[in-house]
Amino acid sequence: MTVTIRPIEQSDKSQYSSLFAAYLVFYKAQLPEKILEKTWERFFDDKEPVYAAVAFDDESPEKLIGFVTYVFHRSTWQYNDVIYLHDLFVDPEVRSRGTGRKLIEYVYGEADKHEVAKVYWHTQIFNHRAQLLYTKVGVRDDFVSYQRPAKK
Ligand SMILES: CC(C)(COP(=O)(O)OP(=O)(O)OC[C@H]1O[C@@H](n2cnc3c(N)ncnc32)[C@H](O)[C@@H]1OP(=O)(O)O)[C@@H](O)C(=O)NCCC(=O)NCCS
Repeated sequence: MTVTIRPIEQSDKSQYSSLFAAYLVFYKAQLPEKILEKTWERFFDDKEPVYAAVAFDDESPEKLIGFVTYVFHRSTWQYNDVIYLHDLFVDPEVRSRGTGRKLIEYVYGEADKHEVAKVYWHTQIFNHRAQLLYTKVGVRDDFVSYQRPAKK
């Protein structure tokens, strides 16, 4: 299997949506259609810092097998923006064949192109499968993340 990564295109909508739906199932999460639609629009809006790329096997270029989304944002610690790698998903049928790695490396390539010094992301502490990949392509930092509690 030879995997290629390319920026997402408008014609990818139905396949991307199916992959994202599977990603939400993985997280046992649901998102309102309004948010999914807004994110889709942002991918194609030059004024928005939200991007996505998709993966396919060169033997079946019409079938998408994974995606990554990432966001450029300001940092008080960098002159240029930094990149937050937001979502990463590979079709369960083709996992452990290097697609996840290639999707992350694609984001690294975008970072280099835009002279972005930092690419970072989070994963759940119990997502050991993802961490098998992350320890190969990244270095674990020593931050713990917190968030505001849900409003009552
Ligand atoms: C995490 C995920 C994206 C990884 O995608 P993938 O295509 O299977 O990952 P890769 O094949 O590129 O993984 C590559 C590395 O992980 C390691 N790896 C993969 N499967 C492994 C296994 N079963 N046992 C040990 N190591 C393994 C390999 O050593 C490999 O390293 P290499 O590139 O040096 O050979 C995929 O499992 C997924 O979509 N999971 C569900 C969603 C998710 O967890 N997303 C991330 C949220 S933070």
